[in-house]
Amino acid sequence: MRAVMFGAGGAIGNALAHELAARHEAVELVLFNRRPVAAKVAGQSVRQLDMQDERKLALAAQELQTVGEVDFLIIAVGALHGVAGQPEKALAELSAEKLKWIYEANMVVPALLMKHFAPLLPRERRGVIAALSARIGSISDNQLGGWYSYRCAKAALNMFIRCAAIELRRKHKSSIVVGLHPGTVASALSAPFQQRIAPEMVFAPAQSAKKLVEVLEHLEPADSGCCFAYDGKVIAP
Ligand SMILES: NC(=O)c1ccc[n+]([C@@H]2O[C@H](COP(=O)([O-])OP(=O)(O)OC[C@H]3O[C@@H](n4cnc5c(N)ncnc54)[C@H](OP(=O)(O)O)[C@@H]3O)[C@@H](O)[C@H]2O)c1
Repeated sequence: MRAVMFGAGGAIGNALAHELAARHEAVELVLFNRRPVAAKVAGQSVRQLDMQDERKLALAAQELQTVGEVDFLIIAVGALHGVAGQPEKALAELSAEKLKWIYEANMVVPALLMKHFAPLLPRERRGVIAALSARIGSISDNQLGGWYSYRCAKAALNMFIRCAAIELRRKHKSSIVVGLHPGTVASALSAPFQQRIAPEMVFAPAQSAKKLVEVLEHLEPADSGCCFAYDGKVIAP
């Protein structure tokens, strides 16, 4: 079994790599992260990859092609705050810079990763692409508003996942393309917002990863195109 992970240096990506390695002794992990990761993840070194440079994505995919088919492509990349500031509470806080920055991390990078790496899925057996999305990307579930850029980017990612699922099942009949909601997980991404949430509602990365891998292992091709929460339930679009 071969699994390729993007965002392996993030809290959830790192935990997912450990969980896959713990469950599948024979798994071959290929791990990528945008920035160099000093510590080894799941006993494997992490390759640095500038995911905003499409030429580099194409080269990395070409290199992997020589190794063989990929059973799991996991995209654990995303951002909520950073150089562009905090999530917007009101229209007045929107800026083109913030919208583009958040859209790049949560939608453009995952989309281009799927463009270049989806052809590595098996043609004749099960192959899974899972991208970390968020419940907050559900339009029907949005009762609170706010966090414009992040909500919109995750909603767009969910639509992209649906489109890719439809296309890929033509050539890769047993392919499964899904979004995953990990719950609220202790990480750099959620750190500024954790104090608003009851501690028992915040998962450790390893807890979330265990649940997410269980979800992934039970998915079938008929599930392709949907977004699943850590408890295995589909999140309404
Ligand atoms: N934590 C939560 O509560 C929560 C809840 C719902 C959904 N999620 C989703 O889960 C995913 C992982 O989040 P996390 O909590 O593990 O966050 P994290 O620890 O901050 O990790 C984020 C990962 O995304 C990478 N990344 C960010 N922007 C990027 C870009 N433009 N290009 C390439 N890589 C980029 C980071 O790379 P560097 O190491 O190079 O910065 C890192 O590997 C995200 O998609 C997030 O939206 C998280």
